[in-house]
Amino acid sequence: MCGIVGYVGPRVATPVLIEGLKRLEYRGYDSAGVAVMNGNGVETRKAVGKIAALESVVGDDPVEGMTGIAHTRWATHGAPNECNAHPHHDCTGTIAVVHNGIIENYGALRTMLQGHGHTFVSETDTEVLAHLIEAAFDGNLEEAVADSLHLVEGTYGIAVVSSQDPVKIVAARKGSPLLLGLGEGENFLASDVAAILKYTRDVVYLDDGELAVITADSYRVFDLQAVQREKKVSKIDWDLDMIEKGGFAHFMLKEIFEQPTTIENTMRGRLVTEEGFSKLGGINLSREELQNIDNVVITACGTSWHSALIGELLIEDLARIPVEVEYASEFRYRNPIITQRTLCVVISQSGETADTLAAMREAKRRGAKTLGLVNVVGSTIAREDDGGIYLHAGPEIGVASTKAFTSQVVALLLLTLKLARRRDMSAARGREIAQAMEHLPAQIREILDRAGEIEELAEQFKDASNFLYLGRGYNFPVALEGALKLKEISYIHAEGYPAAEMKHGPIALIDANMPVVFIAPHDAVFDKVVSNVQEVKARGGRVIALTSREEPTLKKLADYEFRIPETLDMLYPILAAIPLQLLAYYIAAKRGLNVDQPRNLAKSVTVE
Ligand code: F6R
Repeated sequence: MCGIVGYVGPRVATPVLIEGLKRLEYRGYDSAGVAVMNGNGVETRKAVGKIAALESVVGDDPVEGMTGIAHTRWATHGAPNECNAHPHHDCTGTIAVVHNGIIENYGALRTMLQGHGHTFVSETDTEVLAHLIEAAFDGNLEEAVADSLHLVEGTYGIAVVSSQDPVKIVAARKGSPLLLGLGEGENFLASDVAAILKYTRDVVYLDDGELAVITADSYRVFDLQAVQREKKVSKIDWDLDMIEKGGFAHFMLKEIFEQPTTIENTMRGRLVTEEGFSKLGGINLSREELQNIDNVVITACGTSWHSALIGELLIEDLARIPVEVEYASEFRYRNPIITQRTLCVVISQSGETADTLAAMREAKRRGAKTLGLVNVVGSTIAREDDGGIYLHAGPEIGVASTKAFTSQVVALLLLTLKLARRRDMSAARGREIAQAMEHLPAQIREILDRAGEIEELAEQFKDASNFLYLGRGYNFPVALEGALKLKEISYIHAEGYPAAEMKHGPIALIDANMPVVFIAPHDAVFDKVVSNVQEVKARGGRVIALTSREEPTLKKLADYEFRIPETLDMLYPILAAIPLQLLAYYIAAKRGLNVDQPRNLAKSVTVE
């Protein structure tokens, strides 16, 4: 995720800013930059890649000054290159802006500003902020920033400097964290306290809708109507390691808890609830091309392959287009039936998985249109596909994929809405699905609030040697995903199976030592799944049931029950995945294992 650092005081700003950026490296980023006021104007240095690259640019061409802002970018709009790296400028080059978040209406704002003669140099949404502030500037930077933000829709944490109103930094927050660090005769700004902890432990957290002005010896917080806000100064007593993980013991747990926000980010600006439709700017498919798709092939690996299986059910169920799901590693060596009317959907968190990339190239070579569902902007798959839907889930650092999975399913839902509404699905049905999707973040929060129940369950089962996960319909892929999560981080052997298929073999494994996790929400196949639970109980198995409603038969059969909120059948995979991620996490943590970096695994598998 992007990071922001700001400094104003008696020190030379650049080393302080770069030191701060280094403290944010753990969050993941692809480029970085600083803007410092040198007494005459604003000077900017940027570099793609590691902070070390920026340090070397600054080393070759130093910038001296005592007020500055800096940024690490994790691309969301436009490739990770120097031009798109922050800080961004207005036309005069006197205003510099760094921004975390997404400006949803940047397209309309950009067109409006271009109409007034502003020239844009980057592909970012952020650059509109610099030009809006330029247009509103009348000698006072905070007033210009406040005026501009009235026009902006979306999320932001921003820091702004201007050589026309120097020795101050103006900051504002809506949806992206930002805090002030208070020093003696110097003040700091950061998106994350890790960046400034070396200098101060006294911080003021900005709330949504607040702006701040910091100078070397003062700070002021107010709202968009210029009404002053009284703020509490907090003392930080965490150490750096705890801060990087946001107070969580591991990145994986932090990423599990981020999911209400990450899926909101995947939907943001795309879900048109009233029309039961989705706006997907990057798919590069005309209305005719969408209507003329004969078949869809979805290819991926691992967790992404599990979301592909859910995509198959969604697209066939709602858009009535035949879908095949292929392991990328197999697809590349098969002789698949692909025509120019085939849409090949390629799913990858990293966008760099060698097998998935090769499968996409093969599909392209055979004439298919390719559509990438990718998290990492500017990754190879994202660059080479014909169109794409970025997940906007932010960097995933834990090796076991969690938040990318739920965002992939949300992206597949958005794609399905688009395909289905271009065909026969009614607006009313689309609206029903979109409305239910809007509830997902709050429903995930409800589940996360009860993480303690899963932790207790993990205590009961942490010494098991085998696990079975069973589900049907939309929840069969969730069973596979639950089993994969457990085996990769806890090293417990686990298998996922379609619940009814169990009696054709795996039922032989069942005894009192085999915990069986049933994903059994109240969906179209609930009664069938309860019959499968009965089969397991009859053989002495221990049953953990994930369900969505009190139901006496299941309650009597299950040894443990965990409730997830009710939703539409097709949305249960998103809710059911969360307790399974937590179960895997807590079991692995209780076994004392390296949860974030399990043995033998890499975050991005770039070899065949
Ligand atoms: C499982 C996991 C892997 C990846 C797989 C594909 O938790 O992380 O199974 O899902 O290696 O990676 P991407 O999605 O980056 O192509």
